[in-house]
Amino acid sequence: MVPTGETAAFDVVVVGGGPGGYATALYGASAGLSVAVVEKEKVGGTCLHRGCIPAKEFLETAAVFRTVADAKEFGVQAEQPTVDFAVSQARKQKVVEQLYRGLAGLMKGRGITTVPGTGSLLAGHRVKVTGPDGERELSGRHVVLAAGSVPRTIPGFDVDGTVVMTSDEVLDLERLPASVAVIGGGAIGCEFASMLADLGSQVTVLEALDTLLPGCDEDVVGVVSRAFRKRGITVHTGVAVHDHQPTGSGTVVSFGDGQHVTADAVVVSVGRRPATDGLVADGAGVEIDGRGYVVVDPFQRTTAEGVWAVGDVVPTAQLAHVGFAEGIVAVKGILGEPAVPVDYTRVPWGIYCQPEVAFAGLTEAAAREAGFDVVVKKDPFGGNSRARIIGETDGLVKVVAERGADGRAGRILGVHMVGPWVTEQLGQGYLAVNWEATVDEVAAFVQPHPTLSESFGETVLALTGRGLHVA
Ligand code: NAI
Repeated sequence: MVPTGETAAFDVVVVGGGPGGYATALYGASAGLSVAVVEKEKVGGTCLHRGCIPAKEFLETAAVFRTVADAKEFGVQAEQPTVDFAVSQARKQKVVEQLYRGLAGLMKGRGITTVPGTGSLLAGHRVKVTGPDGERELSGRHVVLAAGSVPRTIPGFDVDGTVVMTSDEVLDLERLPASVAVIGGGAIGCEFASMLADLGSQVTVLEALDTLLPGCDEDVVGVVSRAFRKRGITVHTGVAVHDHQPTGSGTVVSFGDGQHVTADAVVVSVGRRPATDGLVADGAGVEIDGRGYVVVDPFQRTTAEGVWAVGDVVPTAQLAHVGFAEGIVAVKGILGEPAVPVDYTRVPWGIYCQPEVAFAGLTEAAAREAGFDVVVKKDPFGGNSRARIIGETDGLVKVVAERGADGRAGRILGVHMVGPWVTEQLGQGYLAVNWEATVDEVAAFVQPHPTLSESFGETVLALTGRGLHVA
């Protein structure tokens, strides 16, 4: 630990210990660099403490609930399940704590110095750390900014943690609200809507654009929208949210053309903004753009020599694994090794609502818009034997390929999945897109049967012009 009032020198000082920062630190330490990580809370960041991990843990609680509720269909007699949310909350926290201790131990074991406090970049690769016990200064041959992001809010919806919440507060609830208005139908909005509805809340989603999950393939969105409707989730798309009037026990949210919805709680999930307030002192030479993001080139270099930025502080997809990838690119640059920039058009996406969504590469609409002549095939999970066995047949696999000079489907441009466990099935689709594999190459591989993942192979086989189960 660095004593207060003193300066310590490292090869790399990382500001922020979330996925972008800890990946940079672990990868750098693996390469023999001396690394310090400045963290004002706990290493693990939003993903581990207030985002991906706790949200997916609650979604798993919802999945267990559905399994028990549907047990009778399999001849398994179980009482109608009820949720003791305090137990669910405690289990979630235990999972988070175990992973936190694992990560902290891994970093320590790798020789990384974790410095508690808030870091601010000064000129000359120095980082001022304001900690609970005073100030200290770190200097690095290189500095990596990885301070992450915080939830955005909207005017008129001041977060009070009980009636108006963001993802931060929802994940700490002790009791589930009986009714919820979710503002924003993106990844977070759909995950919370799905989880809360499964556990018994009455959910209304209010989305400004004319579709849920903007940016996802429209066939995928169609499946999610229908599944939400079937489970009693009310979705209003293309509506502006105006304001809300607290009622004492809840609130009335007004939206659209004179419409309103009464709810015990409001979850605001309208995106996240970079946490760059006070991150960089004047004179440090790092450009911040008008929206607050750190400006970087494809190699994660900021406008100041020797200062890099990764994760949610840069204007790229706000995904933990993108932060990991950007951290690796930055460390390779620091080491003077050749690095391949992250190709943001082909990173994997996973959204853990029920049914799950996973994709990599271009949607059909984006491919056409980019000028590709495309060939498309879809394989619904209704025809997949494993999906029938597990009783989850909602969903499909869709593969978008470029039409070759011979008129047949050639290079695979995008793979889009919605349905059971698709976040665990995307791997081969991701590789196909990123390897720029052709339909004929992928179709030559054997898929294990019966599996959910063979639907991808089936869809690609169909794209060759001769399918087995898919025409
Ligand atoms: P988002 O950008 O994915 O979605 C926000 C949604 O809110 C958009 O559909 C937008 O049109 C809508 N919106 C914005 N202002 C609105 C308003 N005033 N009224 C109604 N709707 C409004 O952001 P989200 O869901 O908050 O997630 C934040 C970030 O975290 C995203 O970049 C997301 O990709 C990432 N994330 C990824 C997950 C995953 O991959 N599993 C899970 C959760 C979040």
